[in-house]
Amino acid sequence: MSGWILAIDQGTTSTRSIVFNDQFETKGVGQKEFTQHFPHPGWVEHDPEDLWRTALETCREALYNSNLEAYDIHGVGITNQRETTLVWDKLTGKPVYNAIVWQDRRTSDLCADLKDQGLEEVFMRKTGLLLDPYFSGTKVAWILDNVEGAREQAEAGELLFGTVDTWLIWKFTGGRSHVTDATNASRTLLYNIETSEWDQELLDLLRIPRAMLPKVKDCSDDFGVIPEELFGSALPILGVAGDQQAATVGNACFKAGMVKSTYGTGCFALLNTGEELVRSKNRLLTTIAYRLDGKTTYALEGSIFVAGATVQWLRDGLEIVDKASDTQGLAEKADAESQVYMVPAFVGLGAPYWDPDARGAIFGLTRATGREEIARAALESVGYQTVDLIEAKNADFKGGDNDEMVMRVDGGMTASDWTMQFLADILGARVDRPMVLETTALGVAWLAGMRAGVWPSMEEFSQRWHLDRRFEPSMSEEERRQRLDGWRDAVQRTRS
Ligand code: G3P
Repeated sequence: MSGWILAIDQGTTSTRSIVFNDQFETKGVGQKEFTQHFPHPGWVEHDPEDLWRTALETCREALYNSNLEAYDIHGVGITNQRETTLVWDKLTGKPVYNAIVWQDRRTSDLCADLKDQGLEEVFMRKTGLLLDPYFSGTKVAWILDNVEGAREQAEAGELLFGTVDTWLIWKFTGGRSHVTDATNASRTLLYNIETSEWDQELLDLLRIPRAMLPKVKDCSDDFGVIPEELFGSALPILGVAGDQQAATVGNACFKAGMVKSTYGTGCFALLNTGEELVRSKNRLLTTIAYRLDGKTTYALEGSIFVAGATVQWLRDGLEIVDKASDTQGLAEKADAESQVYMVPAFVGLGAPYWDPDARGAIFGLTRATGREEIARAALESVGYQTVDLIEAKNADFKGGDNDEMVMRVDGGMTASDWTMQFLADILGARVDRPMVLETTALGVAWLAGMRAGVWPSMEEFSQRWHLDRRFEPSMSEEERRQRLDGWRDAVQRTRS
């Protein structure tokens, strides 16, 4: 028994599949990017068939690259971009519309209307979320209201809703399983995180028929079986979690007070609050970190919509770098005295501002500003946005076992030492980068491996989390304060 697990990480810009062994080592990887569709300003869509096709192809690639056959694999884990919303026909399996991506802002008017009716409080109390277009609920409502015939079909019980995990499981199992896990459910604006059930009052407010909703399971559970036809051997799906929750698990943040921050397309910091459902007074989200054996562990989350995407914009939009990794070299050469601030509000601002109408801006330009200073401001914006989240979190939560915060990080941008050092400096806290950078996939692999009985317990998994490098803060408090003042001033100027 070598405890091989296949983990699928269906992200915003690419799908990755990874085979891990029981030493948590990567044995084979498959990766494919897919097209982003921007039909109108502020709208972001994915073709559901692309999500399915890349999942299938990357699984085959990962198996091939690991020199394994499907019968060697003990279980499959699925982790995914959260909130992205799909609706499809139960009988034909055809989506009635493209997947509406979490970044999509088309429902900002609907959210504003609901707020004007004084309804934000009830959504917050029951779901831990805010009325922002980010979450799935208003996206489902938009599909039902705007796709011809969708509402009638939904009311007749002919349509199904799912986040990406649900869609993939439904496809993998040939339409036999319509399920999700508690973490993905907790991002829909429809799930009561206190009672652990879909909430009828919220469904009525958004006019969403209950029959469309998937069954909600623990993160380590039986989600269905992939039939033999697909990979040559039947494979059970045993672990599911939204990608940020999977990264929390993969970074072994199992104790109350532990924090992880993932730097992918966006940046998402999650603080484990244990069994305590902490309500934020500072516009953070309360969400489910994981649910195991029916027991829910909660988290406070700060969500930033644009982190790595800023670097992508430097590459593809401004075209001032050829590769994302060139940004660090430019930043190192920038004039350290320059005071250029970039507020990357390309799709509005997430936590703690929640301003869907804010738009990006660069401040402090002089004739001496070059691409070096712009690159530096882009990388620094990630650090500044993280400070906003952590300050909100410190105001909300004092508990936990950590006297002094250490932040565990992961995601593509953490490969940049310069960015991580700036992060530690501007946070005034230690930043730990783990050995295994595939934290998200590893997290869901552990959920599946544990269910399969071939991977170790939580305690042993935590003990085997290893540090690659610790970044210690070294900036003076005076400089830190001064820089943060400049950042806050810049953010205020972008607000609508
Ligand atoms: O909430 C959105 C988040 O799950 C997206 O993550 O890694 O695809 O940017 P990522």
